[in-house]
Amino acid sequence: MSFPKRRPRRLRRTPAIRRLVAETRLGVDDLIAPLFVREGITEPIPIPSLPGVVQHSLESLGGEVKQLAALGVPGVILFGIPEAKDSVGSEAWNPDGIVQRALAETRQEFGDEIVLIADLCVDEYTDHGHCGIVDDHGRVDNDATLELYANAAVAQATAGADTVAPSGMMDGQVAAIRSALDGAGFTETSILAYSAKYASALYGPFRDAVDVTIADGGDRRGYQQDWHNSREALEEIRLDLEEGADMVMVKPALAYLDIIAKAREGLDVPLAAYHVSGEYAMLKAAAANGWIDGDAAALEVLGSIKRAGADFILTYLAAEVAAMLHD
Ligand code: PBG
Repeated sequence: MSFPKRRPRRLRRTPAIRRLVAETRLGVDDLIAPLFVREGITEPIPIPSLPGVVQHSLESLGGEVKQLAALGVPGVILFGIPEAKDSVGSEAWNPDGIVQRALAETRQEFGDEIVLIADLCVDEYTDHGHCGIVDDHGRVDNDATLELYANAAVAQATAGADTVAPSGMMDGQVAAIRSALDGAGFTETSILAYSAKYASALYGPFRDAVDVTIADGGDRRGYQQDWHNSREALEEIRLDLEEGADMVMVKPALAYLDIIAKAREGLDVPLAAYHVSGEYAMLKAAAANGWIDGDAAALEVLGSIKRAGADFILTYLAAEVAAMLHD
């Protein structure tokens, strides 16, 4: 009888051996928590399509940041829901706008204990729900929109953001933001570019979370990437790096692991991936039905995003997974 000489199973025998030879590890340091803060409310409001996630009031936001910081989660990304929306999204750069106030208060309370990232877009602030200025033909005007983003970047940096994260997919947005920040003296404020952001059906629950409906049944396919394409993502990343991005992102994550893996090759800056609202909602819905083990699936899914090559992950699972990793 001849036995196989090499037996990969030898290295799977015990939990300790598996730990020893693990090629990738998911840690608390890999997690960024997206948080929503809504103007004009006094109690947090649950978001039904994102179980466990809420629209925070300014007061309740601090409690969650405190919890995340205690768990060792290194950063949060803030999204705002204003009381009033208009055609250009002017609350996005109002110094008293909800995200600016949230940034200032969080900075005041937590100092440098946690990285404060501000999502930089205007869709939560426009009455038509698009990520920019809409022209007479109903199209988003790229170059006119850059000015809005520049204003928002300076407002967010002034309020205390460590990092601004442009998510509108306008061409030239990183350059416009970098130049506005530098011009206002914010040379130390970093840019996390949503470089490869796809027009995805997986953002549905997020739109509930920020009360966004795109006017006239519209969509973002005119500016976000087409999911048929992958080389285009590499071009978007290259352009953002040339324009001064400090970190780049692929979004969504799970259906785009190939993009994450490709982006990783030859990239020497931090690569983020956004495990988006729809991905979270699917996992939670299946777990709530008892169809999958939610905790195990959460670790596996986030682990796979790391294995694909992401350095860190924006995920609504941040707090619960951080708690699991501490156990
Ligand atoms: C745009 C923005 C969106 C998300 C993050 N930033 C929505 C969109 O592009 O329509 C989606 C995040 C998620 O689904 O979790 N401000």
